[in-house]
Amino acid sequence: MDKLLITGGARLMGEVSISGAKNAALPILCAGLLTSDDLHLTNLPLLNDVSTMEKLLRQMGLRMSISGNSVTLNGNDVHHLEAPYDMVKTMRASILALGPLLTRFGEAKVSLPGGCAIGARPVDQHIKGLQAMGAEITLEAGYIHAKAKKLKGTRIVTDMITVTGTENLLMAATLAEGETILENAACEPEVVDLANLLVSMGAQISGIGTSRLVIQGVAKLHGAQHQIISDRVEAATFLCAVAATGGDVILKNVRTDILDVALDKLRESGAILTTDMETIRIQMASRPKPISFRTTEYPGFPTDMQAQFMALNCIANGTSHITETIFENRFMHVQELNRLGASIDIEGHTAIVQGTEKLVGAPVMATDLRASASLVIAALVAEGDTLIDRIYHLDRGYDRMEVKLSALGATIKRVSHQISETMHHALG
Ligand code: EPU
Repeated sequence: MDKLLITGGARLMGEVSISGAKNAALPILCAGLLTSDDLHLTNLPLLNDVSTMEKLLRQMGLRMSISGNSVTLNGNDVHHLEAPYDMVKTMRASILALGPLLTRFGEAKVSLPGGCAIGARPVDQHIKGLQAMGAEITLEAGYIHAKAKKLKGTRIVTDMITVTGTENLLMAATLAEGETILENAACEPEVVDLANLLVSMGAQISGIGTSRLVIQGVAKLHGAQHQIISDRVEAATFLCAVAATGGDVILKNVRTDILDVALDKLRESGAILTTDMETIRIQMASRPKPISFRTTEYPGFPTDMQAQFMALNCIANGTSHITETIFENRFMHVQELNRLGASIDIEGHTAIVQGTEKLVGAPVMATDLRASASLVIAALVAEGDTLIDRIYHLDRGYDRMEVKLSALGATIKRVSHQISETMHHALG
């Protein structure tokens, strides 16, 4: 298992290009199941969840040809209507195959995702929505088995706002008979990106970007070309890293308009930001000021940026309060940040971070994707060496993070299992 060895202290300087969004790419790849024509996608991020999705879709019969950051999908030979446990257990987003398979082929079998490090994360709303559209669903031997000759449009009100739930039902509704209304729909930019792609494939959707999506089912969807939206979470991760190290960096290939809350919070922390539509320059000349926030659905503060902003708060000039409202267990980075010298207490769903002047390197363990990113940020400012274990979490969702950080001047190195074992002992 690879680890990352980071020697803290370097101020990040230079330019970095932000990749396509993981959480837009995953549903968009599944949309390839909806048509027998070619789908051409650009700005595909190269990360492990995308490779897992590629394997999953290929075993269903979807043809994919990837060249650099572009991919062409063709769903003419899709025949295996199943997402097996082996794949779903490594990536929950596999559930996104359910809606497209069912609506186009009348049947789908997708393993139930199990629990996950950040929370229970059930998929009951995906199931409830499809049942409302007339699907017969049985849960057997750990699988969701869904059947429907033809899904029928209806009004669906989900109990809570769910991102992949909205995406699954939206894809299902595109080929259903009649009108589907999705109330309480997620408004995240990644949902909007998927909806825009579906429209260019011939879907009829109104209310895109709002919490009420109205879809008129069509008989068939056709091929399209689409550029995957820029990754706002990757952008925020780099912005926090630059702010924490007191650096000066230009981020390119960003969508400034979907980063409002993050940018406001960074300004509040003392960062100087110069922005236009696709670039952000961040300069940080002082120790960060503490920033408090609560995570909520878009356009509120994203749960996927909570851990990275917490890392920044660890070295702030004062105390901050961070409340997590989306997932029940998304503070697993707290213990690890404390191992680096941070001072964080948890009270219920709130983390109270008392900024300290410095962090000190130590061996730490990544527990989930965004937790890993927060440890990287903390390690970049910590004195001495930090060895981060289980970075497969990081590799799932970031496109060559250590290469990008190293180009900005960070002292960061991937170490293979054997070498890292020796270092782990040396670092205590
Ligand atoms: N929920 C239910 N039942 C459902 C669906 C959701 O109870 O049927 C609950 C969840 O347990 C959670 C809340 O609703 O407490 C919101 O979950 P949501 O369904 O919105 O999350 P998701 O669709 O599984 C996506 C992202 C996550 C991101 C969340 C929230 C993808 C592939 N994943 O997950 O991304 O944190 O939305 O914005 O889009 C990440 O990238 O690190 C990541 C975890």
